Formats: sequence, C-alpha cells, structure tokens
Amino acid sequence: MQQSLEALAGVVGAAHVLTGSDTARYVVDERGLFHGRALAVIRPADAREVAEVVRVCVARGVGMVPQGGNTGYCGGATPDPSGTQVVVSLERLNAVLAVDANAYTMTVQAGVVLAQAQAAAAQHARLLPLSMGSQESCQIGGNLSTNAGGLAVLKYGTARELVLGLEVVLPDGRILDRLTTLRKDNTGYDLKQLFVGAEGTLGIITAATLKLHPAVGRHTAWASVRDVAAACALLADLRALSADAVTSFEYISAHSLGHVRRALPALTPPLAAGEHHVLIECLDPEAEPREESAVTRALAQALDTAGVEDAVLAQNETQRRALWRIREGIPAAEKALGGSIKHDVSVALGDVPAYVERASAVVRARWPEARLSIYGHIGDGNVHFNVLAPEAADADAFRRGEGAGISTALHDLAHAMRGSFSAEHGIGVLKRDTLGHYGDPVALDVMRALKERLDPRGLMNPGKLVPVAAAV
Ligand code: MLT
Ligand code: ZN
Repeated sequence: MQQSLEALAGVVGAAHVLTGSDTARYVVDERGLFHGRALAVIRPADAREVAEVVRVCVARGVGMVPQGGNTGYCGGATPDPSGTQVVVSLERLNAVLAVDANAYTMTVQAGVVLAQAQAAAAQHARLLPLSMGSQESCQIGGNLSTNAGGLAVLKYGTARELVLGLEVVLPDGRILDRLTTLRKDNTGYDLKQLFVGAEGTLGIITAATLKLHPAVGRHTAWASVRDVAAACALLADLRALSADAVTSFEYISAHSLGHVRRALPALTPPLAAGEHHVLIECLDPEAEPREESAVTRALAQALDTAGVEDAVLAQNETQRRALWRIREGIPAAEKALGGSIKHDVSVALGDVPAYVERASAVVRARWPEARLSIYGHIGDGNVHFNVLAPEAADADAFRRGEGAGISTALHDLAHAMRGSFSAEHGIGVLKRDTLGHYGDPVALDVMRALKERLDPRGLMNPGKLVPVAAAV
C-alpha cells in the first residue's frame, strides 16, 4: 500500500496525495447516504498525470473512483468502505481552454465548475445552457459522466446533447483524444457518447468540447394551475404560440412550496394560494425582459386560459432570480427537514398527470402519514416524487425502514407505464441493483460486455452502475 502511494506521489507530487482526515470531504456523498474510506485522494494536474495515475493503479490492482464536484445523488463518486480504493479528483484540471464565439463552442478541462464555464461563455455573449441547482460546485466532468439534466433540458437537451468532443483516459492508461470541434464527423461509432453517462466506469473524462448557444433575453413567469394536466396543456399551447421558445417548464406542488416556506422562510413564493404551480422560462431574442415582444404576448395568451388560476411575470433579473431560488431551494429545504427518499422518474409527457395521481394514491394508502414533495422538470416528463418522513418520525429510521418499499412501489409504477426509474440522477451504487431488476437483459448484456472489454480487471469505479450478472 505504501509503495502504491509512493508511486502515485511520484506522478502528482506528495502534496497531491491526500490521506487520513484530509480525505474526509471526498469520501462522503453530498446527501450523507454513502460513507466510504479511501487509500488516498489523488489530485492530478492534467490528462497526462491522470493517465500515469491510472497506469500505476492498474499495475498494482488498485481500484479508482473518479470524482468531480461530488454533488451526485446516487453514490457514484464515493469509494467503498474497504479503504483500498483511491479517489481520483479532477478538481485541479480546472482551466477553460478555449471559447470560440463564432463557432459556438468551448473547450474546458473536466474539473471546471459548471458556473465558471457558464460565466466564461457569457463573457463572449454565449450561453452554456446546462444549468442546475448544484452549478456552483458541480464540475463539467461529473456533469458529463452522469449525463446531467437540470433546468433547461426541454430546449437544449441533457449534457449528452451538448458534447462535441471528449478527451478520456481509458482504463489501460491510454488517452483517447476525441476533443474535436467538428459538428459533422460520420466516421463510425460515436465513441464519445460511450463515456457520457458511464459514471467513470469505462474511463476518466479529462476535457470536453461543448456546444454553445446565443445569449439572448428571457422571460420568466410563475403560474398556479388547476392540476397537473392543466400544466401539461399549458406547455403544449405555449410551445406552439411562442414558436418553441420555452426553455424551462418546472412543476412545483404545494407540498414542495410548503417545505420551502418552512425551511427557508426568507424565500417568499410569488403566489400564496394554489395546489399546483409552474415556473416557466422562455428565451426571447427580440427584447430584454420587461419589454413587450412576441414572446411576452405568447406568454400572456397562453396563460389566459381556464386551466391557469393566477400568474406573474418577472419584471427584472432580481425578480427572475427570486423565482428560481424558490424552485432551486426545494432540495435544500427537504434536506433541512431531515432529507427525503428521492425519486427521479420519467414517463411519456402525456402520462405525467396519471403518474402523479397514481403515485400519490399509492403512498397515501400505504404510508398515510408520510409527507410528499412532488416537483420537477415536467416539460421533460421527469418527476421528482420525493417522500419525507412523517412529521413526528425520525427521518433516518423512516428511510431505513420504509425507503426500499416506497421506492419499489414508485419505480414499479413508472416501469408499468413504460417509464424510467432514473431520468437524470444516474445509477451509481444506489440504483445499481434497481437497474439489474428493471433493465432489459439484452441491454445489460451489452453493457457488461463493454465494461469487461474496456476494463477487464474491473478497477474503474468498481461496483458502480453495472449490475452484477445473475448466477445461472
Ligand atoms: C432537482 O431538480 O432539483 C434535483 O434534480 C432533484 C432533487 O434534488 O431531488
Ligand atoms: Zn432534477
């Protein structure tokens, strides 16, 4: 063990091999659900050092856990409790390598924090549309490795759809240089996509070239609607009326708003009444916020319907941010109230109202005292159907006792509706066996074949994502 650490120190420098209490913040996930131990945390400076670290680890049979901002929800970046794995932190690979405003591309190292990448694009009047509540700490490498979704998928797609090129260190230490800016390159398998969403099980992403969009004005509205079906109808109308200018369409139930009010009293929801709310954002090349434009007229027209009970339009950036802070505050509010049993399901857009109704009925029937928090990116068919312990209960004990039963019930329901149990949060360890349960056997077979071929010794993020094959 000592020899491995010395060899790794020879690559990255002793100061970048952290051990003991210095590893503390790298071995627990952001929700505090997974507590691991690490032989060391290794902090390479560039792709060449990452490749060398991988070669040293492979030669000595040491498992590697790649880690970005450590904001994931499924334990994908946490080492196991054995103390034999190293965390390979990408945080020192934090340079924005290029922004090409004319080509609408940027190239960044994996450890660049998402908000910094957004700011670098904005300096060139360009938009990096990937955005999410954790953007001040999550990193591009992690965003890509988990194919992060977030708040503007409706218009711009998940992280996967924003990638033009990747640089990846393979499990044998070779560097796969696909850091291209080409928009068209029809030369066989789209290898970069193999590593997006692979959660570091097939290699370590060290840099990426991303697509940018024009930075234009936007309009943001908050509406209370009659029910979830009215929310979906509003989205359909607004897309048509605004020539598809809708970038975000977020659903927020009164339960979730109540949790925000209680845990984060400084945030004031714009509309006090109403059981069902939506936060809508549209891009508008024609005008700055506050000015009348075709998009504001489309918004006004779409919101003037029987299904909409009340609505407000943000009049300036401060009001816009205030609306988003409420939506983005939901996970923090749940955490402050003891944490939630999270679900991240997706169903076809037309099935969203039925899913919410049936899932609510299932939980009400079997766990009548549990508190709900239903919200999410319903424009993407993605519902966060989170369940909090009853008011008087111990949250951890409730999770331990009831969590598996609740999740199985809600995942079964999504599966029965041909939906997904993991729309955007990935698999990690939390949902690895769930993938083994619901996954298509042929698809799982192909995944295992890829894993075995690229990482025959199973040292690249061991135990994550790929379900163990059932014994025959
Ligand atoms: C969000 O949309 O806020 C997160 O993906 C969901 C969560 O934190 O539960
Ligand atoms: Zn989400």
